[in-house]
Amino acid sequence: MKMELTTQRMESRALLVLLVATCLVTCCCSQFLQDHHRKTVRSRTSYAVIFDAGSTGSRVHVFHFNQSLDLIPIGQDLEFLDKVKPGLSAYAKNPEKAAESLIPLLEEAENVVPKRARRRTPLKLGATAGLRLLQGNASELILQAVRDMFKERSSLKLESDESVAMIDGTHEGSYLWVAINYLLSNLKKEYYETVGVVDLGGGSVQMAYAVSEENAKNAPNANDGEDPYITQMYLKDTKYYVYVHSYLGFGKEAARAEILKVTGDSASPCILAGFDGTYTYQDVEYKASAMAGGSSFSKCRNTVLKALKVNATCPHKNCTFGGIWNGGGGPGQKNLYLATSFYYVATETGIADINKPSDKVRIVDFKIAAQLACKTTLEEANSTFPLYRKSNLQYLCLDLVYQNTLLVHGFGLDPWQEVTVVNELKYKEYLIEAAWPLGTAIEAVSALPKFDRLLYFV
Ligand SMILES: *[C@@H]1O[C@H](CO)[C@@H](O)[C@H](O)[C@H]1NC(C)=O
Ligand SMILES: *[C@@H]1O[C@H](CO)[C@@H](O)[C@H](O)[C@H]1NC(C)=O
Ligand SMILES: *[C@@H]1O[C@H](CO)[C@@H](O)[C@H](O)[C@H]1NC(C)=O
Ligand SMILES: *[C@@H]1O[C@H](CO)[C@@H](O)[C@H](O)[C@H]1NC(C)=O
Ligand SMILES: *[C@@H]1O[C@H](CO)[C@@H](O)[C@H](O)[C@H]1NC(C)=O
Repeated sequence: MKMELTTQRMESRALLVLLVATCLVTCCCSQFLQDHHRKTVRSRTSYAVIFDAGSTGSRVHVFHFNQSLDLIPIGQDLEFLDKVKPGLSAYAKNPEKAAESLIPLLEEAENVVPKRARRRTPLKLGATAGLRLLQGNASELILQAVRDMFKERSSLKLESDESVAMIDGTHEGSYLWVAINYLLSNLKKEYYETVGVVDLGGGSVQMAYAVSEENAKNAPNANDGEDPYITQMYLKDTKYYVYVHSYLGFGKEAARAEILKVTGDSASPCILAGFDGTYTYQDVEYKASAMAGGSSFSKCRNTVLKALKVNATCPHKNCTFGGIWNGGGGPGQKNLYLATSFYYVATETGIADINKPSDKVRIVDFKIAAQLACKTTLEEANSTFPLYRKSNLQYLCLDLVYQNTLLVHGFGLDPWQEVTVVNELKYKEYLIEAAWPLGTAIEAVSALPKFDRLLYFV
């Protein structure tokens, strides 16, 4: 009886042990599988959300990368993009309102990123020229309000306060150089197989191209307060020395002011006949009126040469305009991509095909168009250049002469050189905007654990 009981108890105890053991194994196993699954999902791809706070509006870009830093689709596209107007600088007196203006973009961007991925999706904002030019500490107050808003409302990853900051022309130039060479699959190639970039914004113009190590070593020191001429970076384990210089005050809108300053209170040979008025840039008014005989290509070019200070003393071996080192030239500059206003002006004047996201032209084509434009009156230009923005038509001769003179006399480029004006580039079967936020996104995702360290600066 006692014996039987013991056996029974032993049996049930064994059963219990077995049960517990089985349970343990299954539980652990499923937990393990779940973890494993989560880990593989977690590490496979990453999104990046980049805000471009420009002078006329704010834009948000969402990119999606796999572990080898290839762009992969978000729905039908490779990039999600949206914008609002006006820009942050329009809210100079009300930083909270400035931050609020970004909320719709933030919400849209978050909706693009799957919930489980949001916590580790880098979120960045770069503010360009417009904000930098505000009085006093207005721009810093706006950036702080944006940081606070992001921290309060966003489920994305704000790495540090530096993730919301001013982006200067030098960084804009180097990130755009990365973006364009990435889209053209030039990374990992030798420096002489990469392409150079000239970006004509509203406030500044940037030149960026890769140079040899020897050229980089011979780079002079930059002037006080300016960024060094050479940026060193690794891209897919290949080291590049990129010459970058940003000329503040020589973007398309800023240069008009510089050019009108040369003639001061007199009429300007760059303004089309039929216009008598003023040009306002950063709250300053400049006289903008046509000479009695109308505009003239050669007289306008002389005015532009003065504005560019092409004859400034050159303290280095070779200079561009204004006594700035030219980087030494070389094969990294042979194949140039001209972005932003170069693209808009070229397509709106018929130099390049407006239906193409990028097009090949010769630098001299800007001169040919300028010679034609400077001969017209405002009224004629209205029909000869029907695509040019009506509110800018009086500056048609000025804009074209400026772009040609900047390239040929400012940067010393060969007029017969073939260049590409670019807005978007084909990547796989998609079109992607050729703009600095892509370079910023690549850097942000490169820094994530488990991702290829595709890009980092040294
Ligand atoms: C990333 O995507 C590219 C192109 O779709 C593919 O060739 C590559 O193998 C992918 N890499 C990883 C790690 O998934
Ligand atoms: C901005 O300037 C005001 C007065 O000029 C000062 O009181 C305030 O502390 C400054 N704020 C920041 C964030 O620097
Ligand atoms: C610059 O110098 C050259 C030669 O020294 C001269 O021919 C030209 O007129 C000058 N240009 C300007 C804008 O001063
Ligand atoms: C540098 O200047 C020299 C002398 O003026 C000229 O011969 C040379 O072509 C220039 N090089 C570049 C890269 O601009
Ligand atoms: C330009 O042409 C449009 C019609 O295409 C006309 O409405 C407008 O008044 C013209 N502007 C000037 C300045 O001639």
